Amino acid sequence: MSKHHVSTTINGEPVEFLCEPQQTLLDCLRDVLNLTGSKEGCSSGDCGACSVIVDGTLMCSCLILGPEAEGRTITTIEGIAEGDKLHPVQQKFLEHAALQCGFCTPGFLVAAKALLDYNLNPTEEEARYWLAGNLCRCTGYDKIIRAVMDAAAEMRGEARAAE
Ligand code: FES
Ligand code: FES
Repeated sequence: MSKHHVSTTINGEPVEFLCEPQQTLLDCLRDVLNLTGSKEGCSSGDCGACSVIVDGTLMCSCLILGPEAEGRTITTIEGIAEGDKLHPVQQKFLEHAALQCGFCTPGFLVAAKALLDYNLNPTEEEARYWLAGNLCRCTGYDKIIRAVMDAAAEMRGEARAAE
């Protein structure tokens, strides 16, 4: 079967790749482009480990076909930091120890970034709803939410009281 040629933008860089018509974007990222930060947990849109931002919208890359990336602008976990400077959600995950095994962490970070791109002042309830599509089997949810709320406060220029 002939391969599809895909031209897209990933993490700010123009990228071209070849893929099979039925290959998912997640497979293309991991197996073709060697961007292995996005994880494969369920392959069915249930766990959020493969989260990416496509044209500003949070999506599961396991539910998108590689050829559908044509002409899109995609952000993966590899594109969240600015050089050596971690994104505030990454920094706060470290400070709050908001990860255990870490398999789910890239997806949580991408989803949290998408939340704060959309709403820099979420309530805790809104943050929990937003992140409901990301599963952490270690159940570290409270630390994750604290990290996201703290990152939001920092990005708004507020110091958040220690809890
Ligand atoms: S691997 Fe995509 S949602 Fe689980
Ligand atoms: S830290 Fe273990 S699954 Fe999330």
